[in-house]
Amino acid sequence: KSITLIGAPIEEGSGRRGAAMGPAALRIAGIDTVLAELGHTIHDDGDIRPLPARDLANHPGANNLQTVAAFARALNDAVHDTARRGHFPLILGGDHALSMGSVSGMARYAQEVGRPLFVLWLDAHADFNSPVTSPSGNMHGMPVAFFCGQAEFAPVLPKDRPLVDPKRVYQVGIRSVDEREREEIAEHGVNVYDMRAIDEMGMAQIMRKILDEVRVSNGLLHVSLDVDFIDPEIAPGVGTTVPGGATFREAHLIMEMLCDSGLVSSLDVVELNPFLDDRGKSARILVELTASLFGRRILDRPTRSA
Ligand code: ARG
Ligand code: MN
Ligand code: MN
Ligand code: MN
Repeated sequence: KSITLIGAPIEEGSGRRGAAMGPAALRIAGIDTVLAELGHTIHDDGDIRPLPARDLANHPGANNLQTVAAFARALNDAVHDTARRGHFPLILGGDHALSMGSVSGMARYAQEVGRPLFVLWLDAHADFNSPVTSPSGNMHGMPVAFFCGQAEFAPVLPKDRPLVDPKRVYQVGIRSVDEREREEIAEHGVNVYDMRAIDEMGMAQIMRKILDEVRVSNGLLHVSLDVDFIDPEIAPGVGTTVPGGATFREAHLIMEMLCDSGLVSSLDVVELNPFLDDRGKSARILVELTASLFGRRILDRPTRSA
């Protein structure tokens, strides 16, 4: 594969500092070399650094809207262009607000090639708030509502842009949802596999169901991996830890099944906060998971001392 790395050092969606160091930490942890070792061609044009969108007024329910909108616009274009060139867009975050742009860019590409876009949202949170429902105003809690057309509050992207059908959004690992958010995801038919579903059904059965849906529709699949999907004991480098997350094995199984499916078109790796990490532990796990998605097998994984 030809993979293009797009660094998106945004932290203004998250309500705290640190996630802007995420792209650097992922590169230091070797994300490019690991993928190159697997035989892929890596293009890395560095980080995008858009100027704030001064055309937008400040919004009381959407913190740092100008900066978040600037990243959304830049990624909408960069991801779309990357996919059109036939490269796989791999977005290095940065907080989860960046997915407003990355997923919108893929939705545009999917429409052009006449295929439906599915989204696999690996996260402790549903991120389906809007400026009206959000208890925090932090825009990293809003991207899913945004790319589904349910958080339309300012002209961040054109109103007539291609949206994602919420019934094609699959959320796995969910364990922290706000009250209004819960009503919204139910109303719009988002597919939620919470931790209880994972415990009862097992990750493999859930993934088979999701991948079958994408396959029968000849869909493209965008994967958005939030660090807090993983249990904080093994991935502490994130600002919004929630106990009881996915294990190392569950997370790897997902990545391996995604790899085998051949259906994944694009990937976000988001919310890594190196300031909160434990000696690079979370950055390294994210690199390992990314490697599994791009073809590394258990038996290829070199054993390293801790
Ligand atoms: N639901 C909370 C909010 O809207 C937390 C969102 C956390 N999102 C994230 N991408 N970590 O503020
Ligand atoms: Mn998230
Ligand atoms: Mn989260
Ligand atoms: Mn609604």
